[in-house]
Amino acid sequence: MRWAAAVICSVLLLQGAQADVYRAFQAMQSYTSQALDYMRSNGMPQAYAAPAAGNYSSTMAQRSPAPAPDSRPVSTRPASPDTAAINATSQTPLFSRMPGNLSSFASVQAQSGSPAYSSQGAQQPCNADSFAQTQRFTGSWVDSTNDSFNGFYTMTTDCPAWARDYDCKNPQLGGGSPVDPGFIHQEFRQVFQADQCRLRDFDAADFSAKMRGRKLIMIGDSIMRLHFYSLACLMRGQIVSGNASDWQKSSLKWKGVYTTQWAEAGMLPVVKQYVGDFVTTTGFEVHMRDMGTYNDTLFGDVLSDLNLQSNDVLLINWGAWYPRFAWNQNEVAWRAYQQHMYFLFNSRLANLPCQVIWKQYAPVHFEGPTGSEVGFEHELSGGPWQYQCYPALVGEGWYDDYVRYLLQGPCKDGCSHIKVLPIFEMTRQRYNSHHGSMGRGQPTGNADCRHWCNNIVDWWTIMLYNMLA
Ligand SMILES: *[C@@H]1O[C@H](CO)[C@@H](O)[C@H](O)[C@H]1NC(C)=O
Ligand SMILES: *[C@@H]1O[C@H](CO)[C@@H](O)[C@H](O)[C@H]1NC(C)=O
Ligand SMILES: *[C@@H]1O[C@H](CO)[C@@H](O)[C@H](O)[C@H]1NC(C)=O
Ligand SMILES: *[C@@H]1O[C@H](CO)[C@@H](O)[C@H](O)[C@H]1NC(C)=O
Ligand SMILES: *[C@@H]1O[C@H](CO)[C@@H](O)[C@H](O)[C@H]1NC(C)=O
Ligand SMILES: *[C@@H]1O[C@H](CO)[C@@H](O)[C@H](O)[C@H]1NC(C)=O
Repeated sequence: MRWAAAVICSVLLLQGAQADVYRAFQAMQSYTSQALDYMRSNGMPQAYAAPAAGNYSSTMAQRSPAPAPDSRPVSTRPASPDTAAINATSQTPLFSRMPGNLSSFASVQAQSGSPAYSSQGAQQPCNADSFAQTQRFTGSWVDSTNDSFNGFYTMTTDCPAWARDYDCKNPQLGGGSPVDPGFIHQEFRQVFQADQCRLRDFDAADFSAKMRGRKLIMIGDSIMRLHFYSLACLMRGQIVSGNASDWQKSSLKWKGVYTTQWAEAGMLPVVKQYVGDFVTTTGFEVHMRDMGTYNDTLFGDVLSDLNLQSNDVLLINWGAWYPRFAWNQNEVAWRAYQQHMYFLFNSRLANLPCQVIWKQYAPVHFEGPTGSEVGFEHELSGGPWQYQCYPALVGEGWYDDYVRYLLQGPCKDGCSHIKVLPIFEMTRQRYNSHHGSMGRGQPTGNADCRHWCNNIVDWWTIMLYNMLA
C-alpha cells in the first residue's frame, strides 16, 4: 500500500514538492475535511463522471465473443466485448444506493435489529443459499461461552511455517509493541453470530472432502494473502504440502513488469506481492496470487497457468490499493477502481464457467467516520503519526456499492453466477483487531489499521466454508 502511495504521489505531485511538507499536510487535511463535509451535508456522493472505460477496454474490445461456457483453460477463451454496456454506464448514475450516510448511521445501526435482519432464522444452519448476491449479512460479535476460548490457533506455534504472518497474540515477534494479554484475550475470545443463519463450525476434513480434486484460486491484494494464511492454518491437519513466498522469490512465472492504466496518472506498475499454494489429502488445491491492482493480461496469465476448470472456485477481491480520498488525487484511484472492476466483471468474470466469489472489501480503521487512510500521511515526514486504530461509523462502503451496482446493472445477467462473501459489515465492527491495535507500526507511529488479526480473518474462512461445503 505504501509503495503504491509513494508511486502515485511521486507521479502526481511530489517531484520537488516534498520540501514543503507542512503545507502539503495542511492541503491534505483540507481536502479530506472537504470530502467529509460534503458527505455530511449531502450523504455519500451519488454520481461520478463516467469511467473512461473506452480507453481501458480498447485493446480488449478487439477480441471475439466468448463461446458457451466450457472447461477449456482460460487462456484459450477470449473475452467478449461489451462496449454497449460500457457506453451505457456513462449515462447511469454509478450508485443507486449507499449503505448509509453519516447522518443515517443511527438508522443503519437500528436496522440491524429490525425484523428484516432479526435472528429468527438463526437456528437454520447456513449454506450456499444463505449468501445472496446483494443482501446484507448482519450479525454480532459476542464473547464465547467458553471463558478460555482464545481463538482457533496461535499462528507462530500452530500454523505451517509458510503460513505465519504477523501473529497478533505474539506481537513482539513481529516488531510490535508489547500488548496487554487481557486485551488480546478480549479480542480473541469473541465469536461471530450471524443473524440470518447459524454458521456451522469449520470442519477441515469435511471441507477437504467436499473440495476433493477441485481448486480454490484466491486472487487479490494482501488482504487475500491473510485469508490464504487463515485457510492454511485452519486446514493444517489436512495439508499434504504447501509453500508461500514473495512473488519475486517464488518459482512462479509472470515475474515481468505488468502495468495498469490510471486515467490521470498514466501507467503504473502492478505490484506482484506474494504467492502461495497448498494441497490437501483429497487433492483439494489452493492457490493464492497477491497483486495490488488489476491488470487483465496478468489476470489471464495467472488463470491459464492454473488451468482453471469449471468445477473450480475463484475467490477474488481488490480495493486497498485504490484509495479514494487520498490527498490531492481528485479521486484518480477511485476512478481507476471503477474502470478496472467494470472491465473485470463484464469482460472476464461474466465469461468464466467456474464458480466465482467476490470477497467484499475489508474495512480499515485509520481515522474519521469512513475509516479512510486520510491522505498518504505516512509518506509525509512530519506526521501525523498514528498510534492506534479508531472505530469507523460507516466504513469505505463505496467499493462494494460499486460492485453491487455492477451486479444489479451492467452485469446483471452475465454475473448471476457470482456470489459475494459478505465480510464488510461484520468486519467493520472490530476496529481493535487490526495488526496496528496489536502493536504493528505503533513504535513508529504507523499503526497498521488495514491488515487484520487472524481471529477476524478466520471468520471469513468459516463463512467461505459455509458457502462451499
Ligand atoms: C441520509 O440519511 C438520512 C436519514 O436516513 C436520509 O433522510 C437522507 O435521504 C440520506 N441522504 C442520502 C443522500 O442518502
Ligand atoms: C484516453 O485517455 C487520454 C487521457 O485521459 C485521452 O487524452 C484520450 O483522448 C483517450 N482516448 C480515447 C480513445 O478515449
Ligand atoms: C459507444 O460510444 C461511442 C462514442 O460515443 C460510439 O462511437 C460507439 O458506437 C458506441 N458503442 C456502442 C456499442 O454503443
Ligand atoms: C474451552 O476453551 C479451551 C481453550 O481453547 C479448550 O481447551 C477447552 O476444551 C474448551 N472447553 C470446552 C468445554 O469447549
Ligand atoms: C511450491 O512448490 C511447488 C512444488 O514444489 C511449486 O510448483 C510451486 O511453484 C511452489 N510455490 C511457490 C509459491 O513457490
Ligand atoms: C497490462 O500490462 C501489460 C504489460 O505491461 C500492458 O501492456 C497492458 O497495457 C496492461 N493492461 C492494461 C489494461 O493496463
